[in-house]
Amino acid sequence: MPTLFERVFENNRKWIAERKAVDPDYFKHLAQGQKPEVLFIGCSDSRVTAEELMGAMPGEVFVHRNISNVVGSTDLNALSVVEYAIGALQVKHVVVCGHYGCGGVKAAMEPQDLGLLNPWLRRIRDVYRLHRKELDAITDEQKRYDRLVEINVEEQCLNVIKTAVFQKSFLRGGIPAVHGWVFNMATGELIDLHFDFETRLEEVREIYDLKPKI
Ligand code: CO
Repeated sequence: MPTLFERVFENNRKWIAERKAVDPDYFKHLAQGQKPEVLFIGCSDSRVTAEELMGAMPGEVFVHRNISNVVGSTDLNALSVVEYAIGALQVKHVVVCGHYGCGGVKAAMEPQDLGLLNPWLRRIRDVYRLHRKELDAITDEQKRYDRLVEINVEEQCLNVIKTAVFQKSFLRGGIPAVHGWVFNMATGELIDLHFDFETRLEEVREIYDLKPKI
């Protein structure tokens, strides 16, 4: 059996044929532009396949993935994606999707030197520190790990709603909604954490109000 890498171009040719069999003009339409409904911010983990797990087609989801789905306040990559997706593409939904078994979150729970990863993981270690009381009260290590995955998703949702582009767009036009999800790869299930972004926005604005001119 050839490896995936050896099959890539053959797979690509098959995929083109499959799409054209359904719609001969498929790629002509695809090339005309995008109007995705969703911005998906997920983990780089190879098992968190954004489009596939949502059943989405090309053109439907704008995707950003990094280790442990972090939206850092100085991360030009993540912030540019958020800026463009909300400000230009006007997505209706922003999803931050974590996953149980996340290696980045696990590494952040263990105080050790991981070289270049230290500053990245510090963002998750900061999440741990902010919620230390709740997390340290969980005696079962697996449950504590799962809970940090969930809390990290919520903190990254908060980081989205701290941005000026989100506050301007939502306070002016009522979009996008912000959602926190966790992917359980042991069952394939997507879990909605029911992140109450509107209430959280009111709290956030007491400190992070960027006073958009409405
Ligand atoms: Co991960």
